Amino acid sequence: MKKIVFATHNSHKLEEIKDILGAEYEVLGLNDINCLEDIPETGDTLEENALLKARYVKEKYGYDCFADDTGLEVYALDNAPGVYSARYAGDSKDSLANMKKVLKELETKQDRRAQFRTIISLILGDKIYRFEGKIEGEVIEAGRGNTGFGYDPIFVPNGYSETFAELGSEIKNKISHRSLAVNKLKAFLL
Ligand code: IMP
Repeated sequence: MKKIVFATHNSHKLEEIKDILGAEYEVLGLNDINCLEDIPETGDTLEENALLKARYVKEKYGYDCFADDTGLEVYALDNAPGVYSARYAGDSKDSLANMKKVLKELETKQDRRAQFRTIISLILGDKIYRFEGKIEGEVIEAGRGNTGFGYDPIFVPNGYSETFAELGSEIKNKISHRSLAVNKLKAFLL
């Protein structure tokens, strides 16, 4: 079976990908290859960070690899928080503080449109491939809902009246930025 590394320490993300690609690939996480360090994400864009992570694994460990990076891009904020989504309000990666900061910055704006965007970079041998998934919607004025994570409580996808955090994982996983990108990766690999 072909081996491929998914550059993540997140066991939940890894299991999800194993379910999707498991028939043809042995998918290894970073812990499985003994990469216990955090890979530096020093890029200025989602594309750069996804590629940095995939390259790091390829160069240091020799495996074919893919890596993802996701951000919430709010149009009236020049696409912030974007690549800085996890740490928008500081290094503690506090989702509530992050949402509060976005809501504060949007107080004076009319345009509340935004999108979630996921980039997956894949390195197979000496070739690099990129897959993108995005979903547009609006940032509402106060958070609603209990499921999901990150900015889910303040994001209502177009065509729905509930936030990602109200829609729940089953619906979210059918329409989300991440699932769109992963489905493109799957169509390419399988
Ligand atoms: P990552 O690249 O998947 O680690 O995502 C970076 C950051 O973007 C996370 O820490 C969250 O703040 C935010 N984020 C990513 N995906 C989602 C999502 O599906 N819903 C809400 N926030 C998300």
